[in-house]
Amino acid sequence: MIKVLRCDVDRILPLRAKVLRAGKPVEMAQFEHDRLSTTRHYALLEGELAKGCLTLIQAGLKIDRYVMGVLLAEAGPLLAAARYGLGDVIPAWQLRGMATDDGSQGRGFGSQLIRFAVEEALSEGFSQIYWCNAREKAVPFYERNGWKVISKEFDVPGIGPHFKMILLG
Ligand SMILES: CC(C)(COP(=O)(O)OP(=O)(O)OC[C@H]1O[C@@H](n2cnc3c(N)ncnc32)[C@H](O)[C@@H]1OP(=O)(O)O)[C@@H](O)C(=O)NCCC(=O)NCCS
Repeated sequence: MIKVLRCDVDRILPLRAKVLRAGKPVEMAQFEHDRLSTTRHYALLEGELAKGCLTLIQAGLKIDRYVMGVLLAEAGPLLAAARYGLGDVIPAWQLRGMATDDGSQGRGFGSQLIRFAVEEALSEGFSQIYWCNAREKAVPFYERNGWKVISKEFDVPGIGPHFKMILLG
C-alpha cells in the first residue's frame, strides 16, 4: 500500500542520501535547515519502506525580473505591483531533497509527493510561493507538475547544471 505522510527527517535521510548523494556518507545528505521546527519533511511509503521524499524549508525568494515576470503573469499585476518590488525578498517555501528511489521512478510517486506537500503547506498560510534549484534532468518533471523556470542555467559544483524554478500554490 502506498501512503504519503509528514515525517521526521531521520525517516527520509537514508533515501535522500542514496538517490541524491550516491556513494557519499549519509551525513553529507543533511541540510542546514533540516531540524528547524519550521521545516517540513514528507515521505512516500510503500509498505513501511520510504520510496520517495521531499523537504520544504521556509526560505525567502528574491524578486528579480524573472520572478516578477511569473508573478505578473500568474498571480495578477495587482499582487505583484502592489505588494512587491524588484529586490524584495518574499516569504516562500524552498523545495529540497526531492528524490524517488531508483527502482520506483516513473510511477507517479514524485508528483504525488509534491501535490500532497504543497496542499498541506498551503494550509499553514505562510506562503503560496514555492521555489527550488532543479537539476537540469529534473526540469521536465517539475514542468509537468506546474513549475516554471525562473533563471538562466547555473552550475552547482560537484552536481552539475541547475535552473531555479517556481510554483504558485
Ligand atoms: C526527479 C524525480 C524526483 C521524479 O520522481 P518520480 O517519482 O520518478 O516522478 P513521477 O513518476 O511523478 O514522474 C516522472 C515521470 O514518470 C511519468 N509518470 C508519472 N506518473 C506515472 C505513472 N503513474 N505511471 C507511469 N509513468 C508515470 C511522468 O510522465 C514523468 O515523466 P517526466 O520525468 O518526463 O516528467 C526522480 O526521477 C528522481 O529522484 N531523480 C533523481 C534525483 C533528482 O534528480 N531529484 C531532483 C533534484 S532537483
